[in-house]
Amino acid sequence: DKANYRHFMAKEIHEQPEVVGHTLARYVDMATERIALPVKLPFDFKDIQRISIVACGTASYAGYVGKYWIERFGRLPVELDVASEFRYREAPLRKGDLAIFISQSGETADTLAALRYAKAEGVHTLSVVNVATSTIARESETVLQTLAGPEIGVASTKAFTCQLMVLAAIAVAAGKARGELSDADENRLVKGLVEIPRLMAAALSTEPQIEKLAREIAKHKDVVYLGRGTSYPLALEGALKLKEISYIHAEGYAAGELKHGPIALIDENMPVVVIAPHDKVFEKTVSNMQEVAARGGNIILMTDARGAAEATVDSLVTIVLPDMASAFTPMVYAVPVQLLAYHTAVVMGTDVDQPRNLAKSVTVE
Ligand code: M6R
Repeated sequence: DKANYRHFMAKEIHEQPEVVGHTLARYVDMATERIALPVKLPFDFKDIQRISIVACGTASYAGYVGKYWIERFGRLPVELDVASEFRYREAPLRKGDLAIFISQSGETADTLAALRYAKAEGVHTLSVVNVATSTIARESETVLQTLAGPEIGVASTKAFTCQLMVLAAIAVAAGKARGELSDADENRLVKGLVEIPRLMAAALSTEPQIEKLAREIAKHKDVVYLGRGTSYPLALEGALKLKEISYIHAEGYAAGELKHGPIALIDENMPVVVIAPHDKVFEKTVSNMQEVAARGGNIILMTDARGAAEATVDSLVTIVLPDMASAFTPMVYAVPVQLLAYHTAVVMGTDVDQPRNLAKSVTVE
């Protein structure tokens, strides 16, 4: 049931600190501050030359973040595909390599077909699924479950952040196995993961501010989302979430791509949501924001206290998230991104949990 929430989506957004915490507890050993995958992997990350990550929709954006983490911590090349492309382009796969499939339902037709293709090609298959009894779970060599619990809202929220938690654990495990991360690195990263549920709970406190902002966004026909690094897939996710439930047209771009075309859209009517934690690429994103500001765009900046102090740009609204030392910002920044879509849809009066034309699980291609 919806407990005291108006929609399942609201309940599921608010559940995230708890369910991401459950997922964390399944993948790390809190006492030793090490990654402890619940199953023994039938391969060694040292022997893997390339990983293919395959998924659809929101799960593919989780995969995109996972790619950045696995490449960074494991120094292991990762290719990301949406399942509908992967299954038909007959991607050449090397026997003994690894393909990771991400799916909340575990029943998505294209993802399942991609899994079957990968198995036939002789690669190891690992699925990150929420429904443990699903077809994708049953047919995968290894299953790493997300412990999000049943997700009812058609717009995926808690499954996404739980997928990110599992992918973070995979990335650190890969880095460790490949000798790219020391024990101390692993401890530091695990400490960063352990902080996440608390930081997500803190991020939920931006809700009143976002509710107000949503009334403004609801007046617009188009919204642009920008991000760099792991905030780029989150920009894609933010745009998808807004489109699916509020029916407002939105586009997500890598901030650096702005000047290669989308900047032509920017005028004094265009809201631009900039996702920019104070990380390694923050300065670069600030210069993209300046380009938007110079054309009168209305900047909605999602950053931390440091970022807010250092961003030399006038924003319409700045949403301040907790300061974070770790690279795991997408789990925390997902919260305001989801809340913005949710409250905008509520203002628009759409059917938030059952948006038009959409099904929770896409079992036909
Ligand atoms: O069940 P799956 O994770 O395989 O579903 C994948 C997509 O259909 C799903 O994420 C879809 O994009 C959601 N409606 C996003 O909110």
